[in-house]
Amino acid sequence: MSVMQTESNLVKEAWELLEDSIVYYQGRPVGTVAARDPSVEALNYDQCFVRDFVSSALLFLIKGQPEIVRNFLIETLGLQSSEKQMDCFNAGLGLMPASFKVESWEGQQFLTADFGEHAIGRVTPVDSCLWWLILLRAYVKSTGDLDLAHQPEFQQGILRILKLCLADRFDMYPTMLVPDGAFMIDRRMGVAGHPLEIQALFYAALRSARELLLPNRKGEVYIQIVNQRLTTLNFHIREYYWLDLRRLNEIYRYRGEEFGETAVNKFNIYPDSIPDWLTEWMPEKGGYLAGNLGPAQMDFRFFTLGNLMSIISTLASDRESRAIMDLFEQRWQDLVGYMPLKICFPTVEDLEWRILTGCDPKNVPWSYHNGGNWPVLLWAFAAAAQKMGRPELGWRAVELAERRLSEDEWPEYYDGRNGRLVGKASRKYQTWTIAGYLLARELLTNPHHLNLISFNEDPEMLEWMCLTRELR
Ligand code: GLC
Repeated sequence: MSVMQTESNLVKEAWELLEDSIVYYQGRPVGTVAARDPSVEALNYDQCFVRDFVSSALLFLIKGQPEIVRNFLIETLGLQSSEKQMDCFNAGLGLMPASFKVESWEGQQFLTADFGEHAIGRVTPVDSCLWWLILLRAYVKSTGDLDLAHQPEFQQGILRILKLCLADRFDMYPTMLVPDGAFMIDRRMGVAGHPLEIQALFYAALRSARELLLPNRKGEVYIQIVNQRLTTLNFHIREYYWLDLRRLNEIYRYRGEEFGETAVNKFNIYPDSIPDWLTEWMPEKGGYLAGNLGPAQMDFRFFTLGNLMSIISTLASDRESRAIMDLFEQRWQDLVGYMPLKICFPTVEDLEWRILTGCDPKNVPWSYHNGGNWPVLLWAFAAAAQKMGRPELGWRAVELAERRLSEDEWPEYYDGRNGRLVGKASRKYQTWTIAGYLLARELLTNPHHLNLISFNEDPEMLEWMCLTRELR
């Protein structure tokens, strides 16, 4: 069989699997299930997860099937204010469920949502409401149906999310403070505080909300608050999360215990906290945004989705975005290996694993969230590569994935330092693996679709930067 034939067979197979994963509610398509693995008990993988649905949704939009995305947005909005929470405690209004499921009772179908009260460890799905806003914008961009977003229920839904995310709270930083496991890494992994992935999604969600808010009195007030937060958040991440060899040298020679406003080492990062692996691993050319930042704490691990979404959303500057792509190229074997892509690098091991994961047997080194390889990340990689003018890197990753995905029955994740083993507890026929592959191909073949998910540099930020430069 020719290469082209194999490719088109793969694409055909993937599309059929994706169609089979669609969830229907009262006869209408409303989402896709997380996985359809006949060999194991479904647990909650028979539900539609908000974050998992993103890649499928973008594909359906691209392929001219917006109804499923519209239905999804309407139904999840209806679930937003659900009051069923854990032990009678209601989480903040505006929270979106991690997932939902269609259930039947006395011949009637209804939707039940999981806000984390069923999830392992009772984790809070902070990313759901952010992805929801990003998807609503993608839907509007693809269909031109701004009326949907302007409906009173949608405006109320957007404002509820904004109120929840922008509320005054005990924090000194413009970044969003969240508990552990609040996003794709939904188990304890030492990702509490101000993790990069949440900040990138927060940034993209705020940019989306700004486009979707009706400019009435209330809308205008929120647009101003959003604008202010966008610039401070953007500055904070670009300035303080950035790591490259130059910055590493600065941190290495940082003084500790600096007091007052003129402190260079604002977060009191101690040079001894630079991990040994990093001084060797940081390439001459390239860099990345750190995983997390807090008082005397910089998480030096590389988190893939956070970095990729920072490129896609323009949270990272143009220079930084280019350098992140350079890092992928320079450290290909570590970050891509045999199966794109590593969820984070490197792993936490031994005592650190005990302390950070609470001895989680699923998150042992080079497995699952602790350094496993997740094919779903392929679409975000393709998007970032395409956006930064490096499509050849995107194709290289797609070709790698094509060698294994179908044969391995579309696994959820891979294990091992270079992602050579199908994950120990990995599901087969994982929908976002399938959709991630198809979407990556789509974005590389028809780059104009990138605009559904990506953003240009924020003009407000440029203005703000000029202003602060003048003041300096
Ligand atoms: C796992 C993943 C999570 C995903 C869910 C459904 O819990 O950690 O990110 O949403 O499976 O696929």
